[in-house]
Amino acid sequence: MVTLGSSILVPSVQELAKEHTINVPPQYLRPDQDPPVMEAPSLLPSIPIIDMERLVLQESSAAELERLHCACKEWGFFQLVNHGVSSSLVEGMKSEMQDLFKLPLEEKKRFWQNTEDVEGFGQAFVVSKEQKLDWGDMFFLTTLPHHTRKHRLFDHLTPSFRVTMETYSLEVNKLAMSILEFMTRALGMKVEEIRELFDEGTQSLRMNYYPPCPQAKSVIGLSPHSDSAGLTILLQVNEMEGLQIRKEGLWIPVKPLPNAFIINIGDIMEIISNGVYPSIEHRATANSVQERLSIAAFHSPRLTAEIGPAPSLISPENPALFRRVGLEKYLQDLFARKLQGKAYLDSMRINHE
Ligand code: OGA
Ligand code: NI
Repeated sequence: MVTLGSSILVPSVQELAKEHTINVPPQYLRPDQDPPVMEAPSLLPSIPIIDMERLVLQESSAAELERLHCACKEWGFFQLVNHGVSSSLVEGMKSEMQDLFKLPLEEKKRFWQNTEDVEGFGQAFVVSKEQKLDWGDMFFLTTLPHHTRKHRLFDHLTPSFRVTMETYSLEVNKLAMSILEFMTRALGMKVEEIRELFDEGTQSLRMNYYPPCPQAKSVIGLSPHSDSAGLTILLQVNEMEGLQIRKEGLWIPVKPLPNAFIINIGDIMEIISNGVYPSIEHRATANSVQERLSIAAFHSPRLTAEIGPAPSLISPENPALFRRVGLEKYLQDLFARKLQGKAYLDSMRINHE
């Protein structure tokens, strides 16, 4: 069984939030974090919207592909509408996730992380007891390929959640492959290069639960980071906003459209595209009003793949900007570190003097 790593076990923030209605414990206070931008939201730019139906339709495909290319190059983030995943499936996934987080702590303990494995309930990237913590719990699990699923977690899920998750996982994976193929076309890469890497690829789901916080401005729901995956498909589960992306030094809030997915480029896609599509730092803020929930689906190549800039994108004029590395080693090293913006990806860069 593959284990990517572990994280120091921490208390449930959902439980803490029930006890701490006035002050939060100091380990969650983050005077080091940038405050939110103060501009009126209407004055801030918003992430592009890409229409999957237009990408597929012959008449509109070329123009939409150009828009996709710009969105990936300039933003690394976009909202995808008309994505073809049925809304009843999406709603089913949302309500199953909400029920899971409503379970009493005693029952959740069956799904808790252990000292060897980051999968389950808890937090990731906690590597020291002194480290500041995020104001949120996650339920993390690998869903694809099937044989890498952890029985200790899947066997305790309700049969209806297992069925919904199975369908969601496959549908979202299919969508991710299709987006990746459009990206390779836009980049001028060979489609086989992406298929070869992502066939039998890994998918993991990170379900995030951010409880309301009495000192919402002094904590952070999820520390600034870029996703290590190839491509992330993020679903906002309830109406609370809180996702912000870093653009030109500002933290820009994302206003999710109903029935859209938020798609973002991860570090692995930045490596494959040889830096043309950058992964973008983002974070989740907390609020004092209501809990917030989201589900991130991360898509990466198969564990035995070697990742590096696509051979069709490098030439003497365009030398490789990143080292090549086996995916399994890449992920194991990632989970052994604290989340720190794009520091990990930077450690993979080749210096061309
Ligand atoms: C993540 C993530 C953002 C959110 O899980 O990697 O960035 O809105 N989540 O919860
Ligand atoms: Ni993320």
